[in-house]
Amino acid sequence: MSQPTKNTALITGASTGIGAVYAKRLAARGYNLVLVARDTARLQALASTLEQAGAKAAILPADLTRREDRAAVERRLEADATITMLVNNAGMAMNGPLASNDPDVLERMIELNVTAATRLAAAAARAFSTRRSGTIINIASVLALAPEQFNGPYSATKAFVLALTQSMRQELGPLGIQVQAVLPGATRTEIWERAGMNISNLPAEMVMDVEEMVDAALSGLDQNEAVTIPSLPDIADWQKLTEARFALGPNLSRQHAAARYGRA
Ligand SMILES: NC(=O)c1ccc[n+]([C@@H]2O[C@H](COP(=O)([O-])OP(=O)(O)OC[C@H]3O[C@@H](n4cnc5c(N)ncnc54)[C@H](OP(=O)(O)O)[C@@H]3O)[C@@H](O)[C@H]2O)c1
Repeated sequence: MSQPTKNTALITGASTGIGAVYAKRLAARGYNLVLVARDTARLQALASTLEQAGAKAAILPADLTRREDRAAVERRLEADATITMLVNNAGMAMNGPLASNDPDVLERMIELNVTAATRLAAAAARAFSTRRSGTIINIASVLALAPEQFNGPYSATKAFVLALTQSMRQELGPLGIQVQAVLPGATRTEIWERAGMNISNLPAEMVMDVEEMVDAALSGLDQNEAVTIPSLPDIADWQKLTEARFALGPNLSRQHAAARYGRA
């Protein structure tokens, strides 16, 4: 008798950090993997570790700031019907005030955190809508909610990912597709060093280990949360913000300006 086909998860930014931990945890949950990032040697090393643990792991090296590489990943999402999950995780950060940020690096960050994340989410949405099932996990950041605390453009890319996910959840939920935004706080990975920062300068009580962060995020997925904030002790705080946002709804677009803007 033939074995039932295993589900496959495609993870971007799988060569290290949050993405690599997702790969290990999803392999343990019975998924095969497609691992995407630029560093082929690291992807290969992770793939062989996962293979030894019994998962099938393919590597798809890609620089997601490059249009042709993004297109190859989009094609894989659409063509491979075993793919039932996208972990839209690849990202980079920047440091410092807007006026001193290198505009070319800014543009690259937006290409990766916004353009690639959106194009891959759209490709997965098309593929999973046809299959009427699937899971899309978008890795945002708590900075989506706190842009005053860090580099503005980075925080703005993550606010984009949060808004995109909230909208996708509404559109795709009725089609049987699960959509989750994960908002990590400071998590111990290479992203800090890559952006020229030293995570040791943060108070230890603000920094989570990457395994704990991903395990909490997967628990949030199992609980079908739309938005998972691993470090938030009381979920009621998030619910209050959501209710306040929805309460604004009926007044966000009206025929006349509000009285405080001078209209009698
Ligand atoms: N760590 C935190 O404190 C934290 C907090 C909130 C949100 N996040 C978000 O979590 C996600 C993962 O970050 P992390 O902390 O795990 O960072 P990380 O350790 O630096 O890993 C980033 C991953 O993205 C890949 N990547 C970077 N540039 C890429 C490109 N141009 N094309 C394809 N892949 C690329 C990297 O692989 P290659 O270098 O091999 O390409 C690596 O696999 C990001 O979206 C980040 O914004 C992180």
